[in-house]
Order: sequence, then structure tokens, then C-alpha cells
Amino acid sequence: MKNPMTILVTGSLLLITAGVVNAYEPDTSNIQQARSLIKQYAGNLKHELKTAIKQEGLAKAVEACHLKAPDIARDASKQSGWTVRRTSLKVRNLEDAPDKWEFSVLKQFEARKQAGEPVKTMEYSEKVTKNGQTWFRYMKAIPTQKICLQCHGEKIDSKVSRELDSLYPFDQATGFKVGDIRGAFSLSKKLNQ
Ligand code: HEC
Repeated sequence: MKNPMTILVTGSLLLITAGVVNAYEPDTSNIQQARSLIKQYAGNLKHELKTAIKQEGLAKAVEACHLKAPDIARDASKQSGWTVRRTSLKVRNLEDAPDKWEFSVLKQFEARKQAGEPVKTMEYSEKVTKNGQTWFRYMKAIPTQKICLQCHGEKIDSKVSRELDSLYPFDQATGFKVGDIRGAFSLSKKLNQ
């Protein structure tokens, strides 16, 4: 540390590091906002799902999901100013089909899972410019849990299956196992320039 060159180099490194941290500061806060929005959104979805299953049984819960899931996403978006939704490589509701960016992130998540990363904490964010407007985009993987198998698993009760077939003739969202990536939360927000 006595050498003036070392001091100069260390000093420059500190400045560079500080610069990098500054440049990423808004992203950190956006990531935190996205995470906390997802906590609320996922909590509301799960609450609706559990209440519906308990009160009306599984087949009726399919209908409740069908009716309520889009509204829950719409409410979360309206309240927050973000666009909040779910997507997947294998969708049930065609409205949830991924756009190009979401598709590439979902593929990336599958590759990260293959490489041994836990699904539970998997996330990705990026600033994306489209038509001259910059967006902050964020995705968080959704792991398949045991409770999900009743409607997304390999063996589905025939009554539930009939309900799914009638509401979603193009349903691809079955055949999942515990630990699979069922899909992802996808959030985006316009950034001020
Ligand atoms: C009672 C049946 C049922 C259960 C249990 C269930 N889902 Fe679903 N899931 C649905 C229905 C119905 C939809 C389509 C909702 C819509 O029309 O927006 C759906 C849609 C989804 C989507 C949106 C993407 C798509 O395929 O359209 C994700 C992600 C998802 N479910 C994850 C889960 C997870 C994770 C669990 C377990 C915690 C779970 N689901 C449990 C019925 C169920």
C-alpha cells in the first residue's frame, strides 16, 4: 500500500466500483419493487385458490381460477403502475403466452435449472428499449408445488379434467412434476428518460 502506484490503482478501482454501483441503483430499487409486488400478487392468487378449493371443491376451483386470475393480475397492474402477469412455456390460458423477450427468459430459466440453480430464487431483469421507449422488465420463476399437481400434474381427476377441457381446449399446462418450472411472473414498467 506504500507504493504510490498501488494507491492510485486502488483509488481508481474504488471510483470505478462506486460508478458501477450508482449506475445500477435504480435497478436495485425496481427489482425490490417487483419482488414485493409479486409477493402480494402471488399471495392473492394463492388465497383465492385455496379458498375456492376448500369451499367449492377442485372442479369448481378451476372455474374460480378461470374467472378470477385475470382480474387479480389486472388489479395488481392498476394499483402499481406496472404490468403484472404470468406466463409459461406451456400455457393454459392463451392470453398468458410469452412474448419474444419472455420466451427467451423462460428458456434461460430452464437452462439455469439444468445447471443446478434452485428454481425458488430464480429471477432476471433487464432494461429493454422498444420504439424509443425504455422499459424495466423483470421475471421470477414459479416452482411447481404439490398442491399445483391437482390441476397441472400428470394424473388429473376426471371431473377436473373435463372442466379444464371445456374451458381451455388448447390447454398445454399439464404433465408437470414437483420442482419443475411451472412458469414465471412477468413484470414491466416504463422508465422515465
Ligand atoms: C384448481 C386448479 C388449479 C390449481 C390447483 C392450480 N392451478 Fe394454475 N391454473 C389453473 C387455471 C384454471 C389457470 C388458467 C387461469 C386463467 O384463465 O387465467 C391456471 C394458470 C396458471 C398459470 C398461468 C400460466 C398459464 O398456464 O396460463 C400459472 C403460472 C399457474 N397456473 C401456476 C400454478 C401453480 C404454481 C400452482 C400451485 C401453487 C397452480 N397453478 C395451481 C388452475 C389451477
